[in-house]
Amino acid sequence: MRVIILQTPEAVSQRAADLVCETIATEETPVLGLATGGTPVATYQELVRRYQAGNVSFSACTTFNLDEYVGLPEGHPESYRCFMNQHLFDRVDFDSRRCHLPQGNTLDLQQACQAYEAMIRDSGGIDLQILGIGTDGHIAFNEPGSSLASRTRLKALTEQTRRDNSRFFESLDAVPKLSITMGIGTILEARKIVLLATGEGKADAVRALAEGPVTASVPASALQLHANVTLLLDETAASKLVRREYYMHVEEIQRSLQKAQPRGSHLGRVGSHFDRIAE
Ligand code: F6R
Repeated sequence: MRVIILQTPEAVSQRAADLVCETIATEETPVLGLATGGTPVATYQELVRRYQAGNVSFSACTTFNLDEYVGLPEGHPESYRCFMNQHLFDRVDFDSRRCHLPQGNTLDLQQACQAYEAMIRDSGGIDLQILGIGTDGHIAFNEPGSSLASRTRLKALTEQTRRDNSRFFESLDAVPKLSITMGIGTILEARKIVLLATGEGKADAVRALAEGPVTASVPASALQLHANVTLLLDETAASKLVRREYYMHVEEIQRSLQKAQPRGSHLGRVGSHFDRIAE
């Protein structure tokens, strides 16, 4: 796991946008896994800015969002479909036919879950998955206790998640109780994963994710089993990490490798052969 600690939430969104743009530049038909919630909003704003500046195009991309509430009518302002339209899809040049979210407003929810898995598979799988993390350690809506092998399915939200998300709704009662979410097994099949966390409220969850045991009680800890995960954290979200100094040291070495010269120091010569220390 690569842990990158940045000074501000703005720096986190810049780095996340860099990773998205790198994926778009290197893949012929990029498949992006996207998240909603407060954390990625600044990243989406940065992507919109880069698009408007003519630096990136999303026209070749296919996207799959992590989750959707169950039971909100189509066009409901708090549905994740509306969130994505508002923050990203309608503001850049995505082909809307290739921007997918689970169907949370159908009666055949079982079929909607299976169809979602099939669409991800048929697209060739996700190249880069963006994740946030819940204060209870959830990723997507995989609440504590979720199977680490789970697939896209119906999930009941915990009271904590409903309370956390009630800031977007008129009242706690208006927050749906059910969601369709990609499973942890589905997420772990993405070829690269980047998890964003900002703010002190995420510090305990981040610590448990990166330095605690792999356990269904902290769904995000399953990311320890994936070979290409980057955590982009601001100082406050990283504040409870025990190995904080070491992660910063590794990033310093990373930077030296990237500046490497074939005829320079030993590190320089090593860096001319690869530019990333393996996780
Ligand atoms: C949303 C999602 C959730 C959020 C998490 C953090 O698609 O999958 O897991 O990433 O609840 O939400 P924020 O960013 O609002 O703190």
